[in-house]
Amino acid sequence: MKELKPLNGKTIILGVSGGIAAYKACDLASGLRQMGASVHVVLTSNAKEFVSPLTFQTLTRNPVHCEQFEALGEWRPEHIELAQKADLLLVAPATANVIAKLATGICDDLLTTIVMASRAKIMLAPAMNPNMFEHPATQHNLNILENRYRYEIIPPDFGEVACGDFGQGKMASLDVILTSITSMMFTGPMLSGRHILVTGGGTREAIDPVRFIGNRSSGKMGIAMADAAYARGADVTLVSTVGVERPYPVILVETAQDMQEAVEGEFDSCDALVMTAAVSDFRPLAFSAHKIKKTESEDIVLELTKNPDILDLLGRMKQNDQVIIGFAAESESVMVHAAEKLARKNLDAIVGNDITVPDIGFGSDDNAVVILTADGGKENLPRMPKRAIAEHLCDLLDELFQAKNAVAVSK
Ligand code: PMT
Repeated sequence: MKELKPLNGKTIILGVSGGIAAYKACDLASGLRQMGASVHVVLTSNAKEFVSPLTFQTLTRNPVHCEQFEALGEWRPEHIELAQKADLLLVAPATANVIAKLATGICDDLLTTIVMASRAKIMLAPAMNPNMFEHPATQHNLNILENRYRYEIIPPDFGEVACGDFGQGKMASLDVILTSITSMMFTGPMLSGRHILVTGGGTREAIDPVRFIGNRSSGKMGIAMADAAYARGADVTLVSTVGVERPYPVILVETAQDMQEAVEGEFDSCDALVMTAAVSDFRPLAFSAHKIKKTESEDIVLELTKNPDILDLLGRMKQNDQVIIGFAAESESVMVHAAEKLARKNLDAIVGNDITVPDIGFGSDDNAVVILTADGGKENLPRMPKRAIAEHLCDLLDELFQAKNAVAVSK
């Protein structure tokens, strides 16, 4: 099976400075390691007040560095060695204090010394109180760093911060930081110049103002797919029933008909459609404008009508150079049913998953799938994070584009 870890062989130093967002750096360290990176954590003394070195040591399986003079016996301390072999220095969270030191060249602790000693690319994910973030001194310092070669700033999100204030200051989400890193460091096949349309989430079909027919899709697979394609340089559009803040367009929809309209609007301009969404096959025949009241009778009959099959319709409209990948949620004979949908819907590939397996698939961060391609290919991917499945699908998209190009050239 192909290697699915986009950061394999990369060394990343994760600098954690002292703010409440330091606890989120634990997930970041774990996420980077799962993506194949060798992660070495440097904690400032304030960061140690929020999270313990042992947590990071366990998550990264590497020693954690805290003190500038911890390796006095060595002529060339390990952290200087690390600084020089690191592919990336990520400071997350980066406090106003650390940002100020880096902007002015003060290196009075281990973290700032390592940043100064390294020639690697430096990414900062600021996190602080919104007033501190907006303060002219912080903005001035960020501006200095932004214009300095090697630095990239991942802006904080808007929202309520830990101290209760509201504004820009929350550290960017894990997904956004991981996506920025993979798009910078990934050396596998890119999708630059390609427009990839992704659907995600489960549609909701209203019965009355309160109730709906829905399903258990969380939208995680769609987001993972869109993030992975974006990280590989694609122009991504995500059509989803789940709202999410992303640097690419996200079109929020609710019903199957909304999704159809949004997807059809983007389809002509896309190079590939990846349809992870769980689309309701039926909707109530009539929508009750008022909440349906309890009646005397025990039973109530709900009449349903068929929804459009979006994938089927677009499979018929597909141009020779377009790629369509569908998903198949099956509870039995996964391969047989997936193969039938692959052919009937005129797809280039289909990702079959057995939704009866506990803890994976709907709502989970993980899944186990079988990928079937129209040319007869078959690949089983055992349980793994949805992001890893998405990376695999990006590789497949690249292969499918190349195959279509080769056919076009030979004609
Ligand atoms: O969202 P998550 O919680 O991360 O979960 C991911 C998932 C389980 C939803 C995903 O892995 C998955 O299986 N998605 C497909 C769900 C589905 O609707 O399967 P299906 O076999 O009913 O449909 C086959 C294909 O046709 C799908 O690509 C579907 O998007 C599409 N379809 C289905 C019905 C319909 N009316 N229109 C469609 O376009």
